Amino acid sequence: MKRLFSFSLMLCMICQISCTKSDINIIPLPSKAEKGNGFFSITSSTQLLVDKGDTAAQKVSNYLSELLRKAGIICNAHEYSSDVNFSDYIYFSSKGTIDSLGNEGYSLIVTKKGIDIAANNANGYFYAVQTLRQLMPKGFDANNAKFTKLRIPAINVVDKPRFQWRGMNFDCCRHFMSKDFVKRYIDLLAYHKMNIFHWHLTEDQGWRIEIKRYPKLTTIGGWRTEADGNVYGGFYTQEDIKEIVAYAADRFVNIVPEIEMPGHSVAALAAYPQLSCTGGPFKVETNWGVFKDIYCAGNDSTFVFMQNVLDEVVGLFPFKYIHIGGDEAPKYRWQNCPKCQARLKKEKLKDEEELQKYFISRISRYLETKNRRIIGWDEILDGGIPDLATVQSWRGFEGARTAALAGVDAIVSPTSHCYFDYPVESVDLQKVYTFEPIPAGLAVDQQKHIIGGECNMWSERAPQELVDAKMFPRTLAMAEVLWSTALNRDYREFYARVQKHYERLDDLGVMYGPEQATVKILNKNLLALNLMEIEILNGQKNLDIYYSLDGSEPTTKSIHYKKKFRIDKTTLVRVAGFKGDKVVGSVYSQRFVLSKSTEKPIKLSYNPADKYTGGGLSALVDGRKGTNNFNDGIWQAVQGQNIEAVIDLGSEQEIRTVSTGFFQANSSWIFLPENVQYFISSDGQNYSRIASIDSDVSPNAEGMIIKNYTAEIQNIKGRYLKMIAKSIGNCPDWHPAAGSPSWLFADEIEVE
Ligand code: ACM
Ligand code: ZN
Repeated sequence: MKRLFSFSLMLCMICQISCTKSDINIIPLPSKAEKGNGFFSITSSTQLLVDKGDTAAQKVSNYLSELLRKAGIICNAHEYSSDVNFSDYIYFSSKGTIDSLGNEGYSLIVTKKGIDIAANNANGYFYAVQTLRQLMPKGFDANNAKFTKLRIPAINVVDKPRFQWRGMNFDCCRHFMSKDFVKRYIDLLAYHKMNIFHWHLTEDQGWRIEIKRYPKLTTIGGWRTEADGNVYGGFYTQEDIKEIVAYAADRFVNIVPEIEMPGHSVAALAAYPQLSCTGGPFKVETNWGVFKDIYCAGNDSTFVFMQNVLDEVVGLFPFKYIHIGGDEAPKYRWQNCPKCQARLKKEKLKDEEELQKYFISRISRYLETKNRRIIGWDEILDGGIPDLATVQSWRGFEGARTAALAGVDAIVSPTSHCYFDYPVESVDLQKVYTFEPIPAGLAVDQQKHIIGGECNMWSERAPQELVDAKMFPRTLAMAEVLWSTALNRDYREFYARVQKHYERLDDLGVMYGPEQATVKILNKNLLALNLMEIEILNGQKNLDIYYSLDGSEPTTKSIHYKKKFRIDKTTLVRVAGFKGDKVVGSVYSQRFVLSKSTEKPIKLSYNPADKYTGGGLSALVDGRKGTNNFNDGIWQAVQGQNIEAVIDLGSEQEIRTVSTGFFQANSSWIFLPENVQYFISSDGQNYSRIASIDSDVSPNAEGMIIKNYTAEIQNIKGRYLKMIAKSIGNCPDWHPAAGSPSWLFADEIEVE
């Protein structure tokens, strides 16, 4: 037979891998895809061909045959022989492929005569078929598909992934997801060439994996009694898990189970309280957050328990990696537990962070004897890198950078780009598309330790029926970031492909959500004119925008937005997008500040947390006041320290009021400052205190609270204003994260 490409032609194609952006519509974008002339039609007479003995090709051609059968076309697989008809075929072969395609690369060539699929092994064949699916006519993947002919455009694709680890972390604990729903997600990942399903199976609010040796983990730990008396829960039997693992393997998806330790373990402690520092009793948690009761590290029976659990886990999940959590484990109980303190002494450990390293390393070495490797969230670095660990960086990129610099592998999934439980207002489609998994400043030989990334689907606020709207379309951006080359990444071009891809998602029954906030409000300070210009971006097509400047709820009788407008004083702008007279999405409220401090030089005594910079070092005087969502990108925050800022007003000014806003959401460890002081100076050297304001809100007060610490002053003049906000320190004893450093959130310093 005449293969459509020769070794040398293929080599040449690989060398010039480039993204030709014709009207092909494949997500993730292939390394190279060039349209040819004409079409090939798959019908029931098309032969599926594989080479004799190529079991990988046999497996994937059977998978394709099943997809075709569902669409109405019966094609059977044949072994290649010299007398087959090479004018109507789909031929899988590894003959003449080259090493640079790697494990997962493929080439797919469609001509008028047939389809040639080449790969080094089954993974590559499988991804070629996923590309082919996206070249099929609309409706191919729909439930009721009934085709007699499938017209495929002639095309030449050569493709391989950028990263080996292309994952999704799926939390089935906060909300339980049915077995069929889990399988559906494995299919959706595979369709977009993702290959890791990180399955979060144990949590404070529910233990979801049957462990035969410890039945109470699921009979007690699998169920929680909500405040209204309803019992909520569920778990996967070992038979369910075997079925799902096999299902995933058929789709070239590896499953990484996550068994959380030492924290996020209240459900296990409710079942076996003797594994805790205090002995309990405990209830499976019904609140979301971080809880101070964790496994006791001084208790040898904790390790016996963990090892027995992991023995069963290893027996169920064949993949090399086991995720052991390691995140958000408050050390309060360990600090106050005689057994934990005795362990600390005996092992000559400096503090409780080193005790966590001891805990994780002990588990890691145990799993090594089973030929497995652990992954842990980046907190596992806090006491020094545990033995034989891979790090998953979520609190920004720093964990990944630290790991890579130390020659340790890392998976990157920062909240800023990868947390799909966050609303699109803070992580929108474009933000995900700008995700660059390799942290800045790594040398080439360090970059190889960044093995890929994951998106995280935490389910506190997402029961099963809301997951699609959070995962899509953002998963399309994640799939492309992790698979496609970073060269030529062009959001507009990607966005156009997403618009066409929606019909594929419709066929797959995906109930996708929004791409971005329905409206976005931007401001530009025109301080020389004492003005601020406000621009409103429409986040969805065909919305009418209305706004108010008097604090009233926007309606279609409010001001119709047509173009940028200006304000000349501090103003609450409220905006909504309408279809007809119905509001789409939320009403957005933003207070814009024009005060003596707006955009004046500011010096901070601290580095804001990466996650909460508020948009930059001048966030506290940028003219945007933090909203009632502390994740809005406007609030600035630090953990475990005070906030001190000095503003240079530029000249001696009369000051009548000074005010700074602070946030409290104690379930997220965010507390109002216990005291705020203001100082004034003429020379920036000698300050006198002008006000000291104690908090009148209890750290216990629940909900989202914004408090302005406002000082009314008389007859004061000065050029430099200093604000010191005193953090409450560690989370208080009654708090679930007792002893862990609390957060302090501030915005905006206004001077009148
Ligand atoms: C995490 O989000 N706690 C890993
Ligand atoms: Zn203990």
